[in-house]
Amino acid sequence: MKPLKIALLGCGVVGTEVVRLLHEQAADLAARVGAPLELAGIAVRRKDKRREGIAPELLTTDATGLVTRPDVDIVVEVIGGIEPARSLLLDAMKSGKSVVTANKALLAEDGATLFGAAREHGTDIYYEASVAGAIPLLRPLRESLVGDHVHRVMGIVNGTTNYILDKMDSSGAGFSEALEEAQALGYAEADPTADVEGFDAAAKAAILAQLAFHTRVTAADVHREGIADVTSADIASARAMGCVVKLLAICDRVPSEGGRNGRGVSVRVHPVMIPRTHPLASVREAYNAVFVEAQSAGSLMFYGAGAGGAPTASAVLGDLVAVARNRVNGTRGPAESTYADLPVLPMADT
Ligand code: HSE
Repeated sequence: MKPLKIALLGCGVVGTEVVRLLHEQAADLAARVGAPLELAGIAVRRKDKRREGIAPELLTTDATGLVTRPDVDIVVEVIGGIEPARSLLLDAMKSGKSVVTANKALLAEDGATLFGAAREHGTDIYYEASVAGAIPLLRPLRESLVGDHVHRVMGIVNGTTNYILDKMDSSGAGFSEALEEAQALGYAEADPTADVEGFDAAAKAAILAQLAFHTRVTAADVHREGIADVTSADIASARAMGCVVKLLAICDRVPSEGGRNGRGVSVRVHPVMIPRTHPLASVREAYNAVFVEAQSAGSLMFYGAGAGGAPTASAVLGDLVAVARNRVNGTRGPAESTYADLPVLPMADT
């Protein structure tokens, strides 16, 4: 079978791990897909940087040229941010490529445009790695629970802040010391503001709310408060009350008084004091945990590694195999809603 060619956009912590796994697991992946997966090129900002285990001839600074190359089948985007990621993914889909992205900021700001492009051009867009790292969470919301009525999605979706709060709680470390440790371990985003001010969690909350409630929610709709102002004294007071402080993302359907037509959505991210006996209190270090409450399914809990190169690469590889199989079989994955044909539920006051 003819190899499927992959263009990788970005070669940071996650991209490097994706390349490593593509080499290391090549035979297994080929067997699962039904065709070998072959890297066609890797778009980077600088070609002169030394990169362990990456063949230099694969590197290019011409990302647009790479995503529109006729021999490329699948584009994997792990550069993050809004531009040039959005233009590159739109160019890729316009050229008929399937795309896999880990880009929560882009999906939370302009997911509707990407989903619309996928529908228009008949391509796949998969994005499991954008929320909660290795935890299979979007696929269950997008596929398994799509026939149910989800009331609430709530949990810890940012590993860095959970690591910081956990360190402050368990060792008495101050905020800056705990942040430095999280950065040294590679959990924090390049700019820690995205983590500590709650932007990262707010983007993830918007994506979760979109999928759970089948409505348009952008990061700007999310009430956001980070952990930069949580002090050691706050942690000690919580401890004295038998509680821990966690940064939670909370997405609720508001059934009656929330908005027009008696329906609404409330999406928020903020530090919460929770009793030590609560299951979320036992989520340590950079782990994530998310509860989903649905009418027929009842309560579901998803737990696992929410950040870091390998866990995030696991989610990217899962998506890659799924879209590659679809190409081999001439099928598409679940059609993503553009949200254009769904009601925009009013945002309730939070
Ligand atoms: N900085 C993010 C986190 C990475 O700490 O959760 C995963 O999205």
